[in-house]
Amino acid sequence: MNEQSVASGADLSVVIAGVCFKNPVIAASGTFGYGKEYRGLLDISGLGGICTKGLYLKPRPGNEGQRIHETPSGLLNSIGLENPGIPAFIEDELPGLRELGPVVIANLSGSDIDEYEKGAALLDKSAVDMVELNISCPNVKAGGMAFGLDPAAAAPVVKAVRRAVQSKPLIVKLSPNAPDLAAVALSCENAGADALSLVNTFKAMAIDIDKRAPVFKNIYAGLSGPAIRPIALRMVWELWDAVRVPIIGMGGIAVPSDALEFLMAGAAAVQVGSATFVHPPAMNEIIAGIAGYMEKNNFRNLKELSIRSPKK
Ligand SMILES: Cc1cc2nc3c(=O)[nH]c(=O)nc-3n(C[C@H](O)[C@H](O)[C@H](O)COP(=O)(O)O)c2cc1C
Repeated sequence: MNEQSVASGADLSVVIAGVCFKNPVIAASGTFGYGKEYRGLLDISGLGGICTKGLYLKPRPGNEGQRIHETPSGLLNSIGLENPGIPAFIEDELPGLRELGPVVIANLSGSDIDEYEKGAALLDKSAVDMVELNISCPNVKAGGMAFGLDPAAAAPVVKAVRRAVQSKPLIVKLSPNAPDLAAVALSCENAGADALSLVNTFKAMAIDIDKRAPVFKNIYAGLSGPAIRPIALRMVWELWDAVRVPIIGMGGIAVPSDALEFLMAGAAAVQVGSATFVHPPAMNEIIAGIAGYMEKNNFRNLKELSIRSPKK
């Protein structure tokens, strides 16, 4: 708890794996750059946390061709994890990101276990607060979602990263495309995850009818935004029953009532992605709306909001 978190009368703070967030709203990976890109467009210091764009050990140019395509209630993306590489992130981006104030979470990617492990070791020694291991990106050929679809494939990468990340909590970001999501989640928990986040984007596609060809060079892309929200919510609800570690929920959250649904379903915190593109102050409004709802309904803290019975 801190002054800012209780200023409104309701305590919005939450502790996840020992890290205190002043409120439960976190900018989702890949939709908030490294923070500085949004300077002047919203009150960044008021956010609970910022999750970086997916980081590899080495720089990546990302995918060729079209990268973004709007759908009536969502967004398809095929960015392909463009990033400057972890050493350049630590040197050039992290100092500025830290100054913004919110909890800093580094989103970690890799093409193989060795690359994940080496990247994790660098992040462990850096000034980030937490590491979010991404085993769920549908837009890359090697690594990415391949690890997150199958419990047996997820375990070794989580174990390797856990070994490398000794001084910080480890969140594992799950794929909604896994045929048995609960089994993957349990495997990650048993391999050492301190928390789980979900959902990454849903594998999807679009066709350009004038060109008579898929819009994206890789054919498939990841669907985010309001279209996926009820499915993401259902997945958070189901995982809450399956695992013991805290869950960070996301998928289509755009207004306070969306975030409240996830918090009631058992999520300890939420991430907001695509909504920030549409309306940059969305996260500030979501935080204010959660506080307003709690005050109006006499909830003193976030635990009281949840409609799930406490785990034994
Ligand atoms: C343009 C774009 C880039 C993304 N890049 C990443 C990424 O680098 N790493 C990651 O774990 N998730 C990435 N995501 C997924 C989001 O973090 C989030 O899981 C997903 O978009 C669902 O949330 P939303 O509906 O609020 O956007 C990206 C999403 C979008 C739209």
